[in-house]
Amino acid sequence: MDVTASMTTVRRRVDEARAAGKRIGFVPTMGALHAGHVSLMEAAAKRCQYVVVSIFVNPTQFGPGEDFERYPRDLEADRRICEQAGVELVFAPGVNDMYPNRNLTWVTVEDLTDGLCGRLRPGHFRGVTTVCNKLFNIVRPDIAFFGQKDAQQAIVLRRMAADTNLPLEIDICPTVRDADGLALSSRNKYLSADERAEALLLHKALTTAEAMVRRGERNCQKLAAAMSAVLGWSSGVSVEYVSIVDIETLSDLAVIANTALIAVAARVGRTRLIDNIIVDLNKPQGAI
Ligand code: PAJ
Repeated sequence: MDVTASMTTVRRRVDEARAAGKRIGFVPTMGALHAGHVSLMEAAAKRCQYVVVSIFVNPTQFGPGEDFERYPRDLEADRRICEQAGVELVFAPGVNDMYPNRNLTWVTVEDLTDGLCGRLRPGHFRGVTTVCNKLFNIVRPDIAFFGQKDAQQAIVLRRMAADTNLPLEIDICPTVRDADGLALSSRNKYLSADERAEALLLHKALTTAEAMVRRGERNCQKLAAAMSAVLGWSSGVSVEYVSIVDIETLSDLAVIANTALIAVAARVGRTRLIDNIIVDLNKPQGAI
């Protein structure tokens, strides 16, 4: 496995692999890798013969006062995880490699970025779509793999790829959770033992709503109220949003007719966590 900060090396390796008839899979990450990231590498290895992982804590998607400086970084541990997962190439550029000049060109997706995380993190998705557009131009993958854990991000990126005619497929993979239901996240590292217990309320709120839907409840106001009640069980959890939205337009639903994305964001202590589930009245488990 090669680890490089050089775009020229990435382009050369990818060209060689493609010339050898290999399909190129790409997993963009910010590092602090965990089993959720590994599941994307495994999904990539199933469908592609050459897997590239990028590790880059992207400053343009962090707002002022967010955790860019303290975001966990451990390239050596990440390198071992990629190696074990059978990744061929790790692209780990520095900020000056990715942004040698003050960035003047931005890729923005409208509407889909207005609600959910976009409302409280202005500029966040502009940073995500811009860096992913750059990464896609450097790696030029056939398929890029993203997690449902960040459902809005995946949906926004799929739209960016479609609207700008990028010649790649976006594959969205299921959320990996700890045995007790907590969605894996690099930010879980910030949680104390007590906070980790409180963080379980996010999953509890989602499964409560899911069970209500299964029992026949379709009214989104009632579902959201039940979720807020669960999140209110602990004073350590402060809710940013509880939203039930259409999985394509991400606009609020009043009633669930077929499918819905049920999403929650909350702060547990200083740590901001998000989670979601998709309900599909026609299937046991929904997917994007
Ligand atoms: P990061 O938070 O490192 O996540 C990288 C990828 O891993 C994303 O597609 C995310 O949805 C996925 N992921 C995270 N936790 C997961 C889990 N528990 N189960 C399954 N997949 C999970 O998302 C980013 O980085 C950045 O915004 C990035 C796209 C790299 C752009 O900078």
